Amino acid sequence: MDSFSTLIRTASHEQHVEAETSTFMSDLLGGRLGMDAYARYTEQLWFVYEALEAAAGRLAADPVAGPFVRPELLRLASLERDLAHLRGAGWRAGLTALPATEAYAARVRECAEDWPAGYVAHHYTRYLGDLSGGQIIRDKAERTWGFARKGDGVRFYVFEEITNPAAFKREYRDLLDGIRADDLEKQRVVAECKRAFALNTAVFRALGEEFPLSA
Ligand code: HEM
Repeated sequence: MDSFSTLIRTASHEQHVEAETSTFMSDLLGGRLGMDAYARYTEQLWFVYEALEAAAGRLAADPVAGPFVRPELLRLASLERDLAHLRGAGWRAGLTALPATEAYAARVRECAEDWPAGYVAHHYTRYLGDLSGGQIIRDKAERTWGFARKGDGVRFYVFEEITNPAAFKREYRDLLDGIRADDLEKQRVVAECKRAFALNTAVFRALGEEFPLSA
């Protein structure tokens, strides 16, 4: 039987392709959008990571979610530096969540409060993605909008304390494989992971509507 890390990756593969090829992501990666769209996207990430990381302290002691909570992953401080760069010192005053982002953050909070294994699904979907495809987005953002390499504007994608991302991802998959959950619970986690991908895609859809390419 496949390991749990393989199961969760395989099960979400189709949705990964969908997220990756969404209109907004394609336009962003294709260099067809302005910095304002990138800033708006970064603002949406703030709400998601606020939800993920507000719960991290409490979940660190949880037997299921605890092992996944690692300080070197925390992104909120980096996001805030990026936003200060993108929007200026008053970035917080103009920060608003799209309804799709509200829904995403609300689901993360719900899992964080009631269902630690569900929180793991959200944790996996974001952080392992950031460590992987996030690097492609960073590279593209640096080239498109002229941010300094790994500097302000793209710090969200830079994991200063993870010197070997490939090794880190291997360890993370080992943690997934050792998750304290029976088969039924693992299926529920996989389903939550798919839901996490769908929540991301919904945010992309909303951003795509806000930033249509002028035809
Ligand atoms: C244009 C956008 C994206 C690109 C180019 C991209 C690219 C990639 C690549 C190349 C990998 C493979 C890394 C490896 O095998 O180690 C990966 C893995 C991953 N991506 Fe993405 N990705 C994108 C968007 C997303 C989004 C929106 C999410 C979800 C929020 C996501 C979640 C993940 C996850 C969870 C993994 C880890 C899979 C695993 O090994 O278990 N990605 N991505």
